[in-house]
Amino acid sequence: MSQDTVTMDKIVALTKRRGFIFPTGEIYGGLGSTYDFAHYGVLLKTNVKNAWWQTLLQERDDVVALDSAILQHPRTWEASGHLAGFTDPLVQCLGECKRRFRADHLEPGTAVCPVCGGELSAPRDFNLMFETTMGAVQESGNKVYLRPETAQGIFVNFKNVLQTARKKPPFGIAQVGKSFRNEITPGNFVFRTREFEQMEMEFFVPPAEALQWYDYWKQARFQWYVDLGLRPDHLQLREHDADELSHYSSGTADVEYLFPIGWSELEGIANRGTFDLTQHAQFSGEKLDYFDPNTGARYTPAVIEPAAGADRATLAFLVDAYDEEVIGDDTRVVLRLHPRLAPVKVAVLPLVRKDGQPELGREIVAKLRKRGLQVEYDEGGSIGKRYRRQDEIGTPFAVTIDHQTLEDQTVTVRDRDSLEQIRVAIDALPDHLVTKLSAEWRSPKLDA
Ligand code: GAP
Repeated sequence: MSQDTVTMDKIVALTKRRGFIFPTGEIYGGLGSTYDFAHYGVLLKTNVKNAWWQTLLQERDDVVALDSAILQHPRTWEASGHLAGFTDPLVQCLGECKRRFRADHLEPGTAVCPVCGGELSAPRDFNLMFETTMGAVQESGNKVYLRPETAQGIFVNFKNVLQTARKKPPFGIAQVGKSFRNEITPGNFVFRTREFEQMEMEFFVPPAEALQWYDYWKQARFQWYVDLGLRPDHLQLREHDADELSHYSSGTADVEYLFPIGWSELEGIANRGTFDLTQHAQFSGEKLDYFDPNTGARYTPAVIEPAAGADRATLAFLVDAYDEEVIGDDTRVVLRLHPRLAPVKVAVLPLVRKDGQPELGREIVAKLRKRGLQVEYDEGGSIGKRYRRQDEIGTPFAVTIDHQTLEDQTVTVRDRDSLEQIRVAIDALPDHLVTKLSAEWRSPKLDA
């Protein structure tokens, strides 16, 4: 596939048409840059998040999980620097359109509105945190914030985890959850939204090992996307220049993907040093350090943070998988998703709705479900249309029951990518599919 085949418009149309992602509140005209995940979108994004958990938890000994609250104590955001510093420079058109822009996204020296030519206001700092009030009465003092990153919930739990998890540095705390940012210019579908899911891990290390672990996590996180099928030539690691670094970071690299909008950040890996634990220790009065019984040394661990976006990663997997293949006079759209990510693994399709085919189809579905596979049964419409539908949602295999099935107990198995069709005995079908699907896919359940 050439990169030109796929456009953001095609992805938006496909995900709406096939039930992956809908605009929020569409019946009311939509709510700017907010999206709802539909059936296949939920399955796909869940698979992305599960793959992340599997890599960090199941395959390692040195990472533990956390699910902290979205509403954190307000002091958290004072300590983290978000209250004072999590801002973007906002300019507003004073002319007709009244649009708002991020000053740092406009060409340097831009003095007039790029849309209507009106005068632009002077830039002012706009804090990206959403505020709300805790409790029934709106009084000063009960203002809280929707978290703009999951990371701070990890730092404020450092002591609790250290006391209960029986880990010592180097070790990580991982968390997946919603974050909220009142972005001035959201856009490009689910690439930048105001409500999104993050997959973050804070890896606590002895400060002397920080650089070594920073390098380790850059490579490991890059490889994760490759292992899940993103084309390596559409991925790059880009080290931030000194003037791009966040206030807490002494080094940040982005894993970037070649989206239809150009190279853009998928995930950031930051060397946060001891900034966060030091700040929270100071603001809370608690000791947030580690005592090493072997050396007798007490120190504040440094932090290496790989921070990814679940929605943005899902978008990258969709974009990368999208293909249009010309077959004769026809063009088929196919999502060549990694089998581990595909929302549905196997479709079971009786050729006709009679002669016992549907009943047999249901039996096959039950057998495959017992092996832990996400299976879809579909008996409606022509077989061509049903294949087309499964291609567009990225289903790796379609099993068809036909008249021969009732004679010799075999079905056809159609491969999404090669379009090859082979006959397989029903008895051998679960093993056949599980073997094929798990060739590059380490899942204990499937290997069982
Ligand atoms: N704790 C560090 C942190 O939050 P970030 O680079 O601001 O770092 C990490 O965010 C990841 O979260 C990004 O690489 C991106 O994948 C995702 N992300 C950030 N803002 C987003 C937004 N407005 N919409 C969708 N995803 C977003």
